[in-house]
Amino acid sequence: MSIEIFEILFFKYKSNVNSFFYDIISKYKTNIQRDNMKDNIALIGFMGSGKTTIGKLLAKTMEMKFVDIDKIIEATEKKSINDIFKEKGQIYFRDLEREIILQESSRNNCVIATGGGSILDNENVKSLQETSFIVFLDASVECLYLRLKDNTTRPLLNGVEDKKNLIEDLLEKRKFLYQISANFIIHIDENTSIYETVDKIKESYINS
Ligand code: S3P
Repeated sequence: MSIEIFEILFFKYKSNVNSFFYDIISKYKTNIQRDNMKDNIALIGFMGSGKTTIGKLLAKTMEMKFVDIDKIIEATEKKSINDIFKEKGQIYFRDLEREIILQESSRNNCVIATGGGSILDNENVKSLQETSFIVFLDASVECLYLRLKDNTTRPLLNGVEDKKNLIEDLLEKRKFLYQISANFIIHIDENTSIYETVDKIKESYINS
């Protein structure tokens, strides 16, 4: 074939050739990203930081499955978290929590909402770090207090007179653990939109 004919053909099909290569390159890039990405996204943070609400929306947006560790614990025991604490104690709950986190973190393509105290156990952090991109929802004390002050489903806060003080105390003890366990930290206050939060998490996961 003469060079002229080759040129004519090249220009004629240039746009197709470009889109052909574009497809290959973008698929290749996505595969590289997928290889680097962890299988799951795990949300950690204090009670009331929005792990369930944000987790559900994130899972829907990312076409991933939503897994709620507390809900699985309740289904396994056929009891509410309140009743498990009351009848079997916190140590029993933490043992069960460890088992369920190990089991659930070995799955694929899931957004995992963990309980607020899960980072207290190093085994949990290890299980999650091996399989999941960990996001700390770093909600302000004010925001947590507003969401938790009338809530009765958190055994650690039930019957406490000064809930704000307890939240501050517990958060101070746990914050460092949340921070060092996370791959990405997102600050949340009373005015933060959950859509914006979900977008930021999505972006940081894709670029991880
Ligand atoms: C706990 C948080 C709760 C639940 C249990 C203990 C904690 O989960 O696991 O009440 O120690 O902070 P949420 O963070 O979903 O409320």
